[in-house]
Amino acid sequence: MSERTLVLVKPDGVERGLVGEVIARIERKGLKLAALELRTADRATAEQHYAEHDGKSFYNDLVDFITGGPLVALVVEGTRAIPAFRQLAGGTDPVEKATPGTIRGDFGLEVQYNLVHGSDSAESAEREIKIWFPNL
Ligand code: TYD
Ligand code: MG
Repeated sequence: MSERTLVLVKPDGVERGLVGEVIARIERKGLKLAALELRTADRATAEQHYAEHDGKSFYNDLVDFITGGPLVALVVEGTRAIPAFRQLAGGTDPVEKATPGTIRGDFGLEVQYNLVHGSDSAESAEREIKIWFPNL
């Protein structure tokens, strides 16, 4: 059963030239790109996207970071796309949680600079795709 997930290559990933690397891993896994855009997120978009974290200690830094430079937003499609991309990304902390072989595990050192976002559930995916690609 095919589903869609919202993926971001965050500003650190774009800055470091890892967009192609992330897309290559998505494609090699067997997932398809349904939408792709390079853009700089405004504050309202970032706050909506990370609404679940509003009030947490890292929230303001997170919104500053995600709006601080261009990012690549993608809609990725395929069988079990939501957990499949979370598997490719690895755990939130690139050192303590993500294992080698994952995007975060291979390229990240700090939680805030963990390179990619992937929706964590069908509900999140639907909500996030509407935020980034309202016309899709
Ligand atoms: P979260 O949704 O918990 O992680 P994930 O991206 O794996 O779904 O957190 C969202 C982002 O917030 C996370 O990718 C990086 C940042 N973050 C911090 O900067 N510090 C933290 O302690 C946590 C938990 C997250
Ligand atoms: Mg999350």
